[in-house]
Amino acid sequence: MPFASAPDSPNPDPHWQHWLDERRTDALDKFTKRIPARYIESIPLPAKVEQWTAAGMQQTDSLFLTGHIGVGKTHTAWTAAREWLAACYGHAYRSNPVIEIHRSTSLFDSLRPEGDDPHGTSKRAKEADLLFIDDLAAARVSPTGWTQERLYEIFDERYVQQRPVIMTCDVLPRELEPIVGPRVASRLAEMCADHVVFLKGGDRRTGGAR
Ligand SMILES: Nc1ncnc2c1ncn2[C@@H]1O[C@H](COP(=O)(O)OP(=O)(O)O)[C@@H](O)[C@H]1O
Ligand SMILES: [Mg+2]
Repeated sequence: MPFASAPDSPNPDPHWQHWLDERRTDALDKFTKRIPARYIESIPLPAKVEQWTAAGMQQTDSLFLTGHIGVGKTHTAWTAAREWLAACYGHAYRSNPVIEIHRSTSLFDSLRPEGDDPHGTSKRAKEADLLFIDDLAAARVSPTGWTQERLYEIFDERYVQQRPVIMTCDVLPRELEPIVGPRVASRLAEMCADHVVFLKGGDRRTGGAR
């Protein structure tokens, strides 16, 4: 059983390394199938994001990617998630990492009582090794009452268990309170404290990148 021979040293035995390389390739192939066509190409990551991804399963902080519309937040998040996954197959490998991916609008829809499997959605969002929420502030009006409470439960569980979240958002964490509520905003501030990355530049969709 490969786990039994998992070394703690950075110089694992060749059989273990071969097994690990196969698992990594397999996981990356599967993940690549989930990436939307527009974001499939790996792009260069800002140093702070690269440093965040390198910790793999050891990462307990969340990553908050902010910046104006079209600057490359979603693309950066997809590349970062793939790099994080690759880094999980290091010498401290534990098991195949699970990544949950949602646009905020569809996450909030699924969490509604009449949504499609709200209980299962919430459970998966709480327990995944990495949760990726795209465009957190896009759902500006929908997370009220019930949905905001479900969102709180997800963030509180991830906060307590120190499970990372990647978020893209066109407002800063401190401006999120009216959208996600004060309890989620407070937790988010601590979860992302060292990893709020402001992407600079113009709207790449209109040729505005520097
Ligand atoms: N570093 C990059 N190099 C080349 N193209 C990029 C890069 N970052 C983003 N893009 C492209 O720019 C466009 C907008 O990126 P996107 O991530 O959707 O922006 P945002 O989420 O900030 O609104 C997309 O076509 C994307 O593929
Ligand atoms: Mg986006």
